[in-house]
Amino acid sequence: MSKLIAIANQKGGVGKTTTAMNLGAALSLHRNKKVLLVDLDPQANLSEYLGYSEPDGKPTMTQLILTVCRSSVISPEVVKDSIRHNEINNLDYIPADINLANADVAMSSALSRETILKRILSANIIDDYDYVLIDCLPALGVLLINALTAAQEMVIPVQTQKFSIDGLTALTGLHGQIAATINPALSQPLVLPTMVDNTNVSKNTLRTLTERFTDTMLNTVIHKSVEAAKSSESGVALCKTKNRLGEEYKALASEIVGR
Ligand SMILES: Nc1ncnc2c1ncn2[C@@H]1O[C@H](COP(=O)(O)OP(=O)(O)OP(=O)(O)O)[C@@H](O)[C@H]1O
Ligand SMILES: [Mg+2]
Repeated sequence: MSKLIAIANQKGGVGKTTTAMNLGAALSLHRNKKVLLVDLDPQANLSEYLGYSEPDGKPTMTQLILTVCRSSVISPEVVKDSIRHNEINNLDYIPADINLANADVAMSSALSRETILKRILSANIIDDYDYVLIDCLPALGVLLINALTAAQEMVIPVQTQKFSIDGLTALTGLHGQIAATINPALSQPLVLPTMVDNTNVSKNTLRTLTERFTDTMLNTVIHKSVEAAKSSESGVALCKTKNRLGEEYKALASEIVGR
C-alpha cells in the first residue's frame, strides 16, 4: 500500500517544493522506492523543477480535479494518462498549471469537496507507488484540505527565521480538525526545520520548535545553502551531487522510511 504524505505550510517560501522534490528523489534513488510527486500548487514550481513544459496534450491536476467536480468520479485511465516521468531523478509526477487556481473555485461548490483529491488518488495505479508526495500551495483553503484528507502524514517544513512559527497554530488546528473528522488515518504532523544557519534567530527558532513539537519534530534538519537554488535551476536533485543538503535529504528519506 502506498503512503501519501502532504508537504504543507500556508507560509510561502519555506521549502515545501524543495522538500517534495528532494525527499522524493532520495527515496527513489537511495532507498529504491517507487515515488509519485503530485503538484497541488497553481504556481507549478514543482512541475517546472521536474522539467514539465505545458501543454503536452495530457491531463494535468487541473483537468483531473475539474473532471471529478463535474462527474464525481474519474476513470483510472485518465489518472494514468496524467502521470509523467522524470528520467534524471527517476520520479513519476502529476503536474499542475496556473488554471488550478480556477479549479479551486469549481471545487468550492462541488459535492463532497474535501474528498476530490482522495478520489483521484484512489485509482488503482496509485497502489504501484511506495510513496506519494503532495506539494501543497501556500494557502489554507480547499486544496490544502483535500491534501490532508487524502494523506496519512503531513510534513511541515518550517523556515527557522523570525515570524515563521506564527501561522503554525492555524495549520495544526486545521490538521487536527481533519484528523478528528474526515480522515482518522492522518498521523501527527511532522515538523522539518529548513534553511537552518548559524544566526541567533535560527538557533532560537529551532529551540522554540523543539520545545513546542517535542514528539513530532523530525531528527533531520535542512541547512541553508545556495545548492537548493542551483538544483531547482538545473533540475538535478540535491542527492545526485556531492553537497550537504543532498546528505540531509538522504537522511530525511531514511527517517521517513524508518517511521
Ligand atoms: N535549504 C535551503 N537553503 C537555501 N535556500 C533554499 C533552501 N530550500 C529552499 N530554498 C530556496 O528558497 C526558495 C523557496 O523554496 P521553495 O520553493 O521550496 O519553497 P515553497 O515553500 O515551496 O514556496 P511556495 O510557498 O511559494 O510554494 C527557493 O528559491 C529555493 O531554492
Ligand atoms: Mg512551492
